[in-house]
Amino acid sequence: MSTFKAPKGTYDLLPPDSATYLAVREAIAAPLRNSGYGYVETPGFENVELFARGVGESTDIVNKEMYSFTTRGGDQLALRPEGTASVLRAALEANLHKAGNLPVKLWYSGSYYRYERPQKGRYRHFSQVGAEAIGAEDPALDAELIILADQAYRSLGLSQFRILLNSLGDKECRPVYRAALQDFLRGLDLDEDTRRRIDINPLRVLDDKRDDVQKQLVGAPLLRDYLCDACKAYHEQVRELLTAAGVVYEDDPKLVRGLDYYTRTTFEFVHDGLGSQSAVGGGGRYDGLSEMIGGPALPSVGWALGVDRTVLALQAEGVALDLPAATSVFAVPLGEEARRVLFAKVTEVRKAGVAADFSYGGKGLKAAMKAANRSGARFAIVAGERDLAEGVVQLKDMESGEQEAVAVDEIVAVLQGKLG
Ligand code: HAM
Repeated sequence: MSTFKAPKGTYDLLPPDSATYLAVREAIAAPLRNSGYGYVETPGFENVELFARGVGESTDIVNKEMYSFTTRGGDQLALRPEGTASVLRAALEANLHKAGNLPVKLWYSGSYYRYERPQKGRYRHFSQVGAEAIGAEDPALDAELIILADQAYRSLGLSQFRILLNSLGDKECRPVYRAALQDFLRGLDLDEDTRRRIDINPLRVLDDKRDDVQKQLVGAPLLRDYLCDACKAYHEQVRELLTAAGVVYEDDPKLVRGLDYYTRTTFEFVHDGLGSQSAVGGGGRYDGLSEMIGGPALPSVGWALGVDRTVLALQAEGVALDLPAATSVFAVPLGEEARRVLFAKVTEVRKAGVAADFSYGGKGLKAAMKAANRSGARFAIVAGERDLAEGVVQLKDMESGEQEAVAVDEIVAVLQGKLG
């Protein structure tokens, strides 16, 4: 062990577990790639103001959890706590919305940083795969995104997740609700911190996890009852489209999200095997965000799924992914001549698309076969001087233990045939 450890709230991804993370990222991305979403990558840090304005000054994410810093050059930056503001910033900066093809559909995968109190499922460095559809107001687009996330989770073999759905209204109806909620909340017995929240971000009070607060919230006005006709009709269409697609969801009129930019459709994917950090993903519509960061009106919708929590959900359900073997063929040379010949063969086999590895470090037969075993390879090719003198290598089936001599010139084709 070195003197250093991974910083608090972070962990390393190492083989063999890291393969699951890669597979999860790919499984989430696959339905997006298949649905017109193009890959976007933005910097790991941004101007701090982008998040302050985008995610919201009154959110925990911006207030308490952001890694912000001043550079040597005096710029105020922050490690990105989420992806939506960055992706929208990038799309606006590149004028993607002016290319005449709306919505601009983008997907991303990367690291995010929040200075949270670490616990299982909650880290200071975590990873998300996300999708944003920018510049269109169409309930089918909201539905598409929810359907694609559902499809991703099902393709991973997950079944114990639920989709919570709500509408947060728009700039017409939400202020009316907000005022009604503030009136209600002011009549409750709440601590000072929470009272302050009533003024700044009353909807977040609904999300308070404490029992004594939740008890008092029974009977709180619900946004559902304040939605304007346009929001109601929009939400109804989203619901109908999801139902028609066979996606099961639950209406959750108390669902609020930890980011301020949401309007209308909001949703969360929760997994029942995860304890308190049960949200595996979330998203919604953010029709006002573009204007909040100085852009034109661009109604948009998106989500992000947490890779770390999705892996925990797989564990909770006991799902083992069907991962392709890291190594199919393992070469064991005995002696210098064999090293040269087998190294060349391994290179050839790899070029032919077969995953192959080699016994390095001049190991003896026993240690090399142990390495072959550990690699999980289906076949080992073993060759010593006598084999090469006869123009053959030994092909060992690691499952059955059977061994046969195969001509050196034919070994690549034989392996391709057996593994193809
Ligand atoms: P979010 O709900 O803040 O939304 O994060 C999405 C997911 O990221 C969560 O459901 C969770 O799985 C994962 N996550 C968040 N914080 C942590 C953490 N500290 N440790 C582990 N996992 C975490 C957003 O970030 C929005 N940008 C989603 C979105 C996209 N809305 C519209 N477009």
